[in-house]
Amino acid sequence: MERPKRDLVDEVSGLAARRGFFWNAYEIYGGVSGFLTWGPLGAVLKRKIADLWRKTFVLKHGFIEIDAPLVTPYPVFEASGHVEGFKDTMVACLKCSQRFKADELLSKAGARHVETLSPSQVDSQIHRLGVTCPECDGTLGKASLFTTMFQTTIGPLGDSVGFLRPETAQGMFTEFKRTYSVERKKMPLGIAQVGRVFRNEISPRQGPIRLREIDFMEVELFYDPERPECPFLGEVRDVMMNLVPESVLLKGEEEMLEVSVGSALDEGFVKSEWLGYFMGLAQGFMSLLGIPPSRQRFREHLEGERAHYSKQTFDQEVLLSRWGWVEVSGHAHRTDFDLSAHMSKTGEDLTAERVLRKAVRKSHRRVRPKTELIKELVGDDIGAVMRELNSWPQEQTLGELDDKGHVYVAGYRLKRQLFRIETIEKKTQIERFIPYVAEPSFGLERVAYSTLEYGFKSKEGRVVLALPPQVAPVEAAVFPIVSRKPLEEMAGRIHSELLEKGIRATLESKETIGRRYARADEIGVPVCITVDRQSLKDETVTARDRDSWEQLRIPAASCTEFVQKILGSESFGEAAQGMAT
Ligand code: GLY
Repeated sequence: MERPKRDLVDEVSGLAARRGFFWNAYEIYGGVSGFLTWGPLGAVLKRKIADLWRKTFVLKHGFIEIDAPLVTPYPVFEASGHVEGFKDTMVACLKCSQRFKADELLSKAGARHVETLSPSQVDSQIHRLGVTCPECDGTLGKASLFTTMFQTTIGPLGDSVGFLRPETAQGMFTEFKRTYSVERKKMPLGIAQVGRVFRNEISPRQGPIRLREIDFMEVELFYDPERPECPFLGEVRDVMMNLVPESVLLKGEEEMLEVSVGSALDEGFVKSEWLGYFMGLAQGFMSLLGIPPSRQRFREHLEGERAHYSKQTFDQEVLLSRWGWVEVSGHAHRTDFDLSAHMSKTGEDLTAERVLRKAVRKSHRRVRPKTELIKELVGDDIGAVMRELNSWPQEQTLGELDDKGHVYVAGYRLKRQLFRIETIEKKTQIERFIPYVAEPSFGLERVAYSTLEYGFKSKEGRVVLALPPQVAPVEAAVFPIVSRKPLEEMAGRIHSELLEKGIRATLESKETIGRRYARADEIGVPVCITVDRQSLKDETVTARDRDSWEQLRIPAASCTEFVQKILGSESFGEAAQGMAT
């Protein structure tokens, strides 16, 4: 089969809207860019891709999944650094007032590494390259930073600011303490979430690949930095991948190195075993969806492009027809950045336990107020003073007494002599540490769109959507060859059996059989089952393969088993073995 010659994005989007994969939301109000509705076929496609992702990334490793809120209080994103850092550079046209994402404008004008530029660097590049407004050719104003989180308020008074989450990850960090305890202090601990995130993109003009609401599929893998080995690495060590590391980018090139996951780690291109493992797994996942490894690459982020929380990031990119290399997943070495930030903000202990092979002696300092002496100084205010003092972490009281020789509590200056400071020694096999985190993070809509674009083929002038069977939204179609009662009844029985076994099957008797095959091919139905006159005589039916259009007769009673084999990744020929009559 060939790839069609016309613009694939238009072809795929046209089919998507006509048959019900996706279309621009709020069409009847003229549409709002950055919002799509996933129709009856698209919603199932997304769900099936998410299920395949769960199998690949979550279930296989015994990781767990949680479901944290979408609305998040301000202090969480203040602590995580998003309030300060989750910004895009924007430029506005002084003539027509349209706003643009600066990096997109500059990369279209031929600039490189545009994500790393500060607003003033954007201004100089716009000036140097003579970039004007793409809509009206007007002069562009000064670049500024724009926070891309959607802000909201929590409760009726409007004074408690919150944000719609721009990543699911923070839910795994804020809920780490309880999840770690519920999971009986398992380490490494993989926590996953699949759910909606929100990004108030400046001016999304790239259809399904730049959205303001996205379903993310993320794992936060918490591990002990002193035990950073990934036990699954052997499974992907020899997997070859296209890598564009920082060292290549810094030379001003984008040449891809073909290296195995193992050598990318050994040669120091990838700094964490878990990150390397997830990259190998991610390539396999996208291959299952029909995107060959040769059309995938992992591009490292340069310093200025990297998110504030990451020590190293690789984008997994897929080559798309109109936009070139497009990120479908990010792989970030988040270290202990997020847990440390939430510990400082809340004073909560978000550490994990490391069990040592041998017990060791540990000493720690403890500070106790001398209540009687303090009471002599503060009199009836003793209650308020003690309450405030008790709310402080021990380290804070000790730190201030060590540094300044006193603390200020409820308006009183309490000197060091008013405290008893002891050193406690004990034998222990437990050491506490802040876990490091490796994060694979996928945007489901981009994955779904890439799957559709790569599946979009043409055969003899007709569209065939060669979706991998396990993600096909309609798994089988049953057709009576013509609209006659006995044929319809038999087709109806087969259809019901398929539905009872949980197979997503349709039953159609309108239009010619050729037209029905064409409609089924266009939405990627892997198998069609046709009931004809011979079926009434010998209880056999025709099974037709979507990709080869090969047809063979199988017993009507074997339809369910046949379809299940195809959905379980057997080829048409393999599934037919021992069944063909
Ligand atoms: N959690 C990854 C991201 O926000 O891109």
